[in-house]
Amino acid sequence: MSCCGVGAMAPNAVETIKTSPFDGQKPGTSGLRKPVGTFQQPHYSENFIQAGLIAGLGDKLVGSSLAVGGDGRFFCKEAAQLIIKIAAANGVSKIVIGQNGILSTPACSHIIRKYELDGGFILTASHNPGGPKGDFGIKYNISNGGPAPEGITNKIYEITQKITEYKIAPNLKVDITRMGMSCHKIAGGTLTVEVIDPVQDYVDYMKEIFDFQAIQAYLKSKNVLLNAMNGVTGPYLQKIFVNEMQLPAESCLNCEILPDFGGKHPDPNLTYASDLVEIMKQGKHDFAAAFDGDGDRNMILGHKAFFVTPCDSLAVLAANLECIPYFQKHGVKGFARSMPTSEALDKVAEKCGKGCYEVPTGWKFFGNLMDAGKINLCGEESFGTGSDHVREKDGIWAALAWLSVLAHKQKSVEDVLLDHWETYGRNYFSRYDYENVSAEAGAKLMEGLDKLIQDPKTRGMTFSDPTGKSYRMQHLDNFEYTDPIDGSVSKNQGIRFIFEEGFRIIYRLSGTGSSGATIRIYVEGYDRSDNASFYKEDAQEFLKPLITIAVRTSKLKELTGRDQPTVIT
Ligand code: G6P
Ligand code: ZN
Repeated sequence: MSCCGVGAMAPNAVETIKTSPFDGQKPGTSGLRKPVGTFQQPHYSENFIQAGLIAGLGDKLVGSSLAVGGDGRFFCKEAAQLIIKIAAANGVSKIVIGQNGILSTPACSHIIRKYELDGGFILTASHNPGGPKGDFGIKYNISNGGPAPEGITNKIYEITQKITEYKIAPNLKVDITRMGMSCHKIAGGTLTVEVIDPVQDYVDYMKEIFDFQAIQAYLKSKNVLLNAMNGVTGPYLQKIFVNEMQLPAESCLNCEILPDFGGKHPDPNLTYASDLVEIMKQGKHDFAAAFDGDGDRNMILGHKAFFVTPCDSLAVLAANLECIPYFQKHGVKGFARSMPTSEALDKVAEKCGKGCYEVPTGWKFFGNLMDAGKINLCGEESFGTGSDHVREKDGIWAALAWLSVLAHKQKSVEDVLLDHWETYGRNYFSRYDYENVSAEAGAKLMEGLDKLIQDPKTRGMTFSDPTGKSYRMQHLDNFEYTDPIDGSVSKNQGIRFIFEEGFRIIYRLSGTGSSGATIRIYVEGYDRSDNASFYKEDAQEFLKPLITIAVRTSKLKELTGRDQPTVIT
């Protein structure tokens, strides 16, 4: 489509505004996340957007094209308008934006790829609460549709530390409430803005990837629930499951996008999606999935709230990809998981002779492996699962992948898991989160552990819990990753205690919080038997001795004063 009728209009003025740096504009695991009030400070968002444009696009900035979209949380619309004004002033020539500024994170990744754009801004703080007192976030994604790699995020941070000015077209007004194309004359150039249906391209793509008819036929005799948690996935779920697959409207819960997610924490786990768990416990439904604010995370539940850990979910999908048309077409290339994610995936990779990569926490580390064709399935313990169909994790994709497996196997979620464990053994996994401890306590805990792993005495040590259960140390380190594609090195990615026979304790500080520190302790143990009923043991019971050791060794109670974690998954 070509641009229309801008000739006669006076160009929008471009202004250069003097500014000065703000502390702490360092993108975390997934973009810059701060309380809304922080982003609302004069020049705060402007500085970060200007830095993102320069670092992300470099000499391609003038004449470049961008996607813009977010999860609909408070401040999304204002931030979208700011991006349009600043991008226009910097010479960006095309912006594709979801109607009302809405795009789920995976849909935005898809738009960047499908429309062959140079990059994009995703406006979300993912699973963090929203609203005027909640969090906001801005993330820059590159032309492959994935989060900017560390080289770029470090550069963004550097620029924010010395920024003195940004450019803006302050009077530019773009109506993003109506779909269609508009052209805007800017001093020195023209900006085309295309406001698109946020849902349609994504749904079309899902129909290519999955066999919708097979899933629909399976769902005819099943009762399922899909919970949008008042995040961005609502309209996507309604289109796919109600319009396309003809499920009753009641199958999709909390589908209205609310700027404060109804005052809740839009994080699909057993704690924050406990209302879904309670409904599932009543035993009326066969399958449920829940999604986070921006639609990239997923939680899968079976009959009576049988919980599939994200680690097991990844492994089960890896073992069954052949039933999905996308993988029939492209083949299964290889797998990857983040370091703290359990080794259940590795067992599948080994059996089917595929490569399995271990990367630091953060979806951005999968991008190079996907671009190089090394992997096309990956996931993280933090409720993220996805493939190379986009370069973000994708909650709805994961639910459709699970439904494809269930339709293919004609078995319940629990039976699929029991079969899986019978074949591969079970990797028990649990994560303890201590949210919002002081930054000092978090840093001290990690320093203490760092010292411990450097102490030669720790090597080869046996760790025991009070009941006498003991684990012999096999390897310990602070995880460091060298990207096999571009050779970049990422250090200090988590303390690892690796014991014999597949037991592990991992410690990290979260990179997604907006204040204080969140300590994460991940524990894992492996067991195998040929008898499926053997695997019905509760993960908390199985891992209890190791958890006791993990808490004690880190001096967590002494340093943080916390007796219990805030979230257990
Ligand atoms: C986001 C990222 C993930 C990451 C997760 C947890 O969802 O996209 O890649 O695993 O946050 O990160 P954290 O640093 O809080 O453990
Ligand atoms: Zn998210």
